[in-house]
Amino acid sequence: MRKVHVNLGKNSYDIIVENEILAKAGEHIHCAGGKIFVVSDTNVAPLYANTLIDSLNKAGYECELYLIKAGELSKNIQSICPMYEAMLSFGLTRKDLVIALGGGVVGDLTGFVASTYLRGVDFVQIPTSLLAQVDSSVGGKVAVDLAQGKNLVGSFFQPKAVLIDTAVLATLPDSFYIDGMAEVIKYGCILDKDLFEKLDSIKDRASFMEQAEAIIANCCQLKANIVERDELDKGDRMLLNFGHTYGHAVEKYFNFERVSHGVAVGIGMSVVTHLSEKAGLTAIGSAARLDKILTQYGLDTHIEADQDEIIANMANDKKNLGKELVIVLISEIGKSFLYPTTSEFFRECK
Ligand SMILES: NC(=O)c1ccc[n+]([C@@H]2O[C@H](COP(=O)([O-])OP(=O)(O)OC[C@H]3O[C@@H](n4cnc5c(N)ncnc54)[C@H](O)[C@@H]3O)[C@@H](O)[C@H]2O)c1
Repeated sequence: MRKVHVNLGKNSYDIIVENEILAKAGEHIHCAGGKIFVVSDTNVAPLYANTLIDSLNKAGYECELYLIKAGELSKNIQSICPMYEAMLSFGLTRKDLVIALGGGVVGDLTGFVASTYLRGVDFVQIPTSLLAQVDSSVGGKVAVDLAQGKNLVGSFFQPKAVLIDTAVLATLPDSFYIDGMAEVIKYGCILDKDLFEKLDSIKDRASFMEQAEAIIANCCQLKANIVERDELDKGDRMLLNFGHTYGHAVEKYFNFERVSHGVAVGIGMSVVTHLSEKAGLTAIGSAARLDKILTQYGLDTHIEADQDEIIANMANDKKNLGKELVIVLISEIGKSFLYPTTSEFFRECK
């Protein structure tokens, strides 16, 4: 068992990482009112909801399970009204609790609903995808999508606790494991050379699983350190966007269909590091090391696409064609900095 404390004054909480913690979740949860509204999705609930609810019942809590259809389309403003209504029918009060059991979609949606229901009710994250365990469940960003774009309505709302059961990763499809690994590799690149080297030495998913508890806790600690310095995303927290500026433009170029977020971030990290190395801003050899590890984990380093259109996407996205764009670069593996430039920085990439 590993514990990471996120120190945010009255919003502080613990992240507990432990193999098979799900079956003991009731021991780690505090809910004065006694009622718990559990939200999960149609893939995760059949696998894990019973284990969680049995443990909560054993601890004396009354539970209601609410299901959303698996997938990003459910993280939508339209999903929230039926959730509020189900919470009211269950008689959930401000003394009660909401639990998100699932990937980033369930976590973001449930967190947003919890932040607004009765002006805010406590919630706990039990992330089940690798991405949610190392990234989205930590830091309190919760949101839903609008037709115009992702995460356009949201808030900062910290959970009361995050319980991470590494055993549930056994059922995560490979494509989502690979997606999550892009964020794990990102932490190594921007903040922790030792983590990068540890990842480099891992040969397959089975070996990763043997070290999952330590690696996931390490990632949560790195994110917690950044969130403690910049809870509201006005400074250092931007470092977490390494690879995301170019990556997001690639996702948009392919209409958010052909390229997954993790794959796009991998390509973004590689492209920006090749360019910054060429510009003398990054230690020589960093891009080659990054490409090797991305490939090792089944991620891509580049993609055939019209670069002019991708650059236009980047510029339009930030509404700052020709104006300043702050990107994240690494000076070497494990060290990162914010670099004000324009989308023209990416002009030379092929
Ligand atoms: N809040 C933040 O700080 C933050 C950060 C990064 C990403 N996000 C958001 O996270 C979302 C993506 O998260 P995601 O990749 O977890 O997507 P997801 O929630 O859609 O989960 C991926 C898929 O894996 C399935 N799944 C999850 N856990 C499983 C398990 N243990 N076994 C079997 N199947 C399982 C899900 O049902 C889904 O089909 C996006 O909406 C993104 O915007 C938020």
